[in-house]
Amino acid sequence: MFKVNDNYLKLKGSYLFSAIAKKVAAYQAENPDRSIIRLGIGDVTQPLAPAIIEALHKAVDEMADAATFHGYAPDLGYEFLRSAIAKNDYADRGCDIAADEIFVSDGAKCDSGNIQEIFSTDCKIAVCDPVYPVYVDTNVMAGRTGVFDEKTEMWSDVIYMPCTAENNFAPELPGQTPDLIYLCFPNNPTGSTITKDQLQVWVDYANKAGAVIIYDAAYEAYISEDNVPHTIFECEGARTCAIELKSFSKNAGFTGTRLGYTVIPKDLKCGDVMLHSLWARRHGTKYNGAPYIVQKAGEAVYSDAGKQQLKGQVAYYMNNAKTIMTGLKEAGYTVSGGVNAPYIWLKTPEKMNSWEFFDYLLKEANVVGTPGSGFGPSGEGYFRLTAFGSYENTVAALERIKAL
Ligand SMILES: Cc1ncc(COP(=O)(O)O)c(C=O)c1O
Repeated sequence: MFKVNDNYLKLKGSYLFSAIAKKVAAYQAENPDRSIIRLGIGDVTQPLAPAIIEALHKAVDEMADAATFHGYAPDLGYEFLRSAIAKNDYADRGCDIAADEIFVSDGAKCDSGNIQEIFSTDCKIAVCDPVYPVYVDTNVMAGRTGVFDEKTEMWSDVIYMPCTAENNFAPELPGQTPDLIYLCFPNNPTGSTITKDQLQVWVDYANKAGAVIIYDAAYEAYISEDNVPHTIFECEGARTCAIELKSFSKNAGFTGTRLGYTVIPKDLKCGDVMLHSLWARRHGTKYNGAPYIVQKAGEAVYSDAGKQQLKGQVAYYMNNAKTIMTGLKEAGYTVSGGVNAPYIWLKTPEKMNSWEFFDYLLKEANVVGTPGSGFGPSGEGYFRLTAFGSYENTVAALERIKAL
């Protein structure tokens, strides 16, 4: 008789956003006349920029002609895209990352979930609390997390780094030494960031401890302040301790188009073994490359027109963030985030926990957000709103919240 991977049975409930979707659908079914504004899931709403659409059309035409048709893409990504990334995201920022240290993929969710495969199951992970759920759940699936304590809502073999108002939502170095450290800045869900000096402390710590930092920079495009690093490779010594994950979802609206990349420097080694070689082997075996058409669209992100248009798109969402921040403050809420990130993290009113506030906002204002406790125990008493809605919906949502 076959057996299942019982690590999957340890997973808690359904994925957070499925649980939210179910609640919203039930409410809408009971109240079909209500217009619900969704500021919950971090999905973009603006169409792809014209430069990207143009590149897509051109690439589609190429696929219609035998002379320019493309079959399987190279598993590590087309050279034209890897070079554009190396130049624009690294060389232009003074960072030493070569095109062949970049692995193109179909997004940061898969990469952030799959990267743990190249490490031993004995490795101890450290995560921020609250955290993007994928990092923990994929380690649960791999059997790396021990047992779940229903009371504390924590796994026995995971090192949690609380990010609270007291530490300005920035993790402190853990008391126990981890092997893998997941960091995400600008942060989902808190919208917080750390300075380059603060990140340097993590890089120095990881190099000393022999740990790897898995640095998720999916929201890098939203950084507005000068002292916030755009990549971990701005820090000295990061080439020997860091892997960086990037996504085209939030800077260029590719949530439905799918494109991302992972950087693994060749200097990152366990003894003589380069993590780069292991990931190349994994990618080559399990992944057949992002579509040519999509990689061409990705290249257009780095064209002059693309850059200009996407700057406007990011500004559009950040204007929403400002609208949410200002509106919530006027309504008396304590808020953070929203300056270098499209997420606003608000303290729920007294006597209401995260899910109670979710229900209250859904029923009384017909606005959907995300309960902070869904991201980890330290998220309890908080709530996340996203700036990815349309401007009109954002304004309307805030009017409703202010009127409560
Ligand atoms: C921190 C973080 N990493 C990765 C992702 C997923 O990115 P992608 O759309 O490239 O899979 C998200 C999406 O919300 C995210 O918040």
